[in-house]
Amino acid sequence: MRFSIVTAFPEYFDAFLNTSIVGRAVKEGKIEIDIVNLRDYAINSYGQIDDYSYGGGGMVIRPEPLYNALKSIKSEKSFVVYTSPQGVVFNQDTVEALAAKDHVILICGHYEGIDERFAEKCVDLEISIGDYVLTGGELPAMVIVDAVSRLVPGVVGRGEAVLEDSFYRGMLDHPHYTRPSVWCGLEVPEELVSGDHEKTARWRRRQAVVRTLKRRPDLLARANIRPYLSQGVYVMLVHHPVLNKDGKTVTSAVTGLDLHDISRSCMTYGINKFIVVTPLKSQQEMVCKIVNHWEKAPEGLNPMRSEALSLLKAFDSIEDCLAWIEKKEKKKPLTVATTAKKRAGALPVFELKRILLERDLPVCILFGTSWGLADEVFSGVDVVLSPILGGKGDYNHLSVRSAVAILLDRLFGWR
Ligand SMILES: C[S@@+](CC[C@H](N)C(=O)[O-])C[C@H]1O[C@@H](n2cnc3c(N)ncnc32)[C@H](O)[C@@H]1O
Repeated sequence: MRFSIVTAFPEYFDAFLNTSIVGRAVKEGKIEIDIVNLRDYAINSYGQIDDYSYGGGGMVIRPEPLYNALKSIKSEKSFVVYTSPQGVVFNQDTVEALAAKDHVILICGHYEGIDERFAEKCVDLEISIGDYVLTGGELPAMVIVDAVSRLVPGVVGRGEAVLEDSFYRGMLDHPHYTRPSVWCGLEVPEELVSGDHEKTARWRRRQAVVRTLKRRPDLLARANIRPYLSQGVYVMLVHHPVLNKDGKTVTSAVTGLDLHDISRSCMTYGINKFIVVTPLKSQQEMVCKIVNHWEKAPEGLNPMRSEALSLLKAFDSIEDCLAWIEKKEKKKPLTVATTAKKRAGALPVFELKRILLERDLPVCILFGTSWGLADEVFSGVDVVLSPILGGKGDYNHLSVRSAVAILLDRLFGWR
């Protein structure tokens, strides 16, 4: 990956290009950084690059030196960034977007900034590193190059270190400790010196959760929380008996399409089991038949699909299923009902994420079929989730397959 930095003060970058991780990445050719001295494109032999602001005020960088400097380095693959306090605030999403580019050109402003016409004509994105004003764009350019370089393969020694960093999955990192093991009477947490890798990993995950909830709960809206839940997550598709208008008890039929599609969504989002509840023996047998069919499918044929379908299990009642989960997890699961209709007390997904991380319980998310979940189901669960709304009036008649996929993505999707 290549960065070009256009600046009137190239000396700012002397240490940056030769120091620590960025310096090593440059030396090893993992990243390329060229510094373009704006004064080489000055409008006269005095090295002039700026002029008075029209209407009064300080100095502004003129458009011609910027344009000529840009022309000397720009290609079709270049993405031009102007560091500006008025730009979008730099965050991990922008870091990832820039890391996907081949060539990022960073224009550093100074004084009152740059001529607006250059920004309008030549800049793809203005980036601010925070709501304060610095004297120039050189420090922001270094911040941007540093953050983006960390995502270039091989720049950070241990690749997985980046995955655990704050914001990468939308959560904060866990605290870090080093030697000595006791300092000023303060000990390193026992979990880190135990030598038990599983215990250490569990402790780190939990600390990341505790920190995020305490310091930056706002991050949860976009965080991928599945790796931080130590207990199982279950999806239940309920074919519950309901009374029809003739006073007869009826139950919706299990469909092959639901079983296939929901299994695959469950597999994608790391769900432990997809459970179909139906009181009808023949329907339970059908579920088993489908699972067996794919289990016995000849080797090499759709292995991913048979793996996804192996998540499937059938029960004849919600109670039996919850008892089975409790036995398996050694903890009573948190039960979450979903609905297409607005219900008093329903919680948004963001709140459910917070509850899941805070309580760290196994969770079972219940989805209804045709008629939705029965009233007695709603009164027996711990949480009711607000309906998914698309903004088209009150119409939100999604298939259960779509509803499962959307909710799993909102809860456990990678942003
Ligand atoms: C003194 S500032 C200009 C401020 C400008 N008059 C304003 O209020 O928006 C000079 C240069 O520093 C850089 N700069 C200052 N603060 C910045 C920030 N928070 N993020 C990114 N760049 C910044 C920009 O390149 C800017 O052109």
